[in-house]
Amino acid sequence: MLFDLKNVSHTYLRDTPFATQALRDLTLSIPADQTVALVGPTRSGKSTVVDLLSGLIKPALGTFFFQGDDVAAPAFAIERLRSTVGTVFQSPEAQIFEETVGKDVSFGPRRKNVPLAESRRLVQESLEAVGLPYEDFRTRYTYALSGGQKRRVAIAGVLALQPNVIIFDEPTAGLDPRGRRELLDLIARFKEQHHFTIIYVSSSLEDVITLADQIHILDQGHLVFSGTPREILARADELTKLDIALPETTQIALALRDLLPAIRTDVVTLDELEEEILKHSTQMKMGR
Ligand SMILES: Nc1ncnc2c1ncn2[C@@H]1O[C@H](COP(=O)(O)OP(=O)(O)O)[C@@H](O)[C@H]1O
Ligand SMILES: [Mg+2]
Repeated sequence: MLFDLKNVSHTYLRDTPFATQALRDLTLSIPADQTVALVGPTRSGKSTVVDLLSGLIKPALGTFFFQGDDVAAPAFAIERLRSTVGTVFQSPEAQIFEETVGKDVSFGPRRKNVPLAESRRLVQESLEAVGLPYEDFRTRYTYALSGGQKRRVAIAGVLALQPNVIIFDEPTAGLDPRGRRELLDLIARFKEQHHFTIIYVSSSLEDVITLADQIHILDQGHLVFSGTPREILARADELTKLDIALPETTQIALALRDLLPAIRTDVVTLDELEEEILKHSTQMKMGR
């Protein structure tokens, strides 16, 4: 197993009046070579899990295993975790601090003392991989980029570190519909072409329903349930009680429940939804 969280709890500002329990007895396994989504409403603890998986914090209670090794053990080298996992943190604009795109993306390789020619190649490949042509973008000022471009630059900066695992923490938040679509397409391509292990964090199921192999639903710092996209959507009723955005097709299926009580909610495409509606309305006409 790539990551194993066992009964992990985490409290910020412990022993102060501002103490907040972010994770409660969370047990979660993430295998390598899968696309795993962590979905939950705001403040459900998603970014705290991201900080754990990125090696930035250690669990106050419980155990975190990376590739079978206890991260809290004295012999564990945290660099092993950090060189495997690349994280695009929430609001990645904040991760950009160099003046030009080329400098920003080469920050990681330079810090790792990667030889110049190799670093240049990594920057070029990483920018091209996020759809920003190298020659055009390397000298551009980072402050003048659009929101979507900044996010791509931040992703390129993570790619230049050559991670095997990439974590995206709410990567589409705040983007317009087109920017969102483009970024989702980009991540889908990473999955198909580069075989990264991808961990995608979101407060919306819409983003992950066609992307994820496995989805974990978080609420108030604990795991509510896990399953494949279809298994998750089949439990749409329970999800509406949490503040999680459902895919449009599922919302329509749920809204039709009064009329067609037997309609399935695990409809992923519009075609499937149409089929369900036709099936159940025919049955209704036949008096069933
Ligand atoms: N650095 C921090 N200091 C204090 N409290 C925090 C900090 N980060 C997160 N929290 C609190 O922990 C809880 C979980 O937050 P977070 O992991 O950011 O959830 P999410 O990413 O799902 O919105 C929230 O109640 C939040 O206010
Ligand atoms: Mg968050």
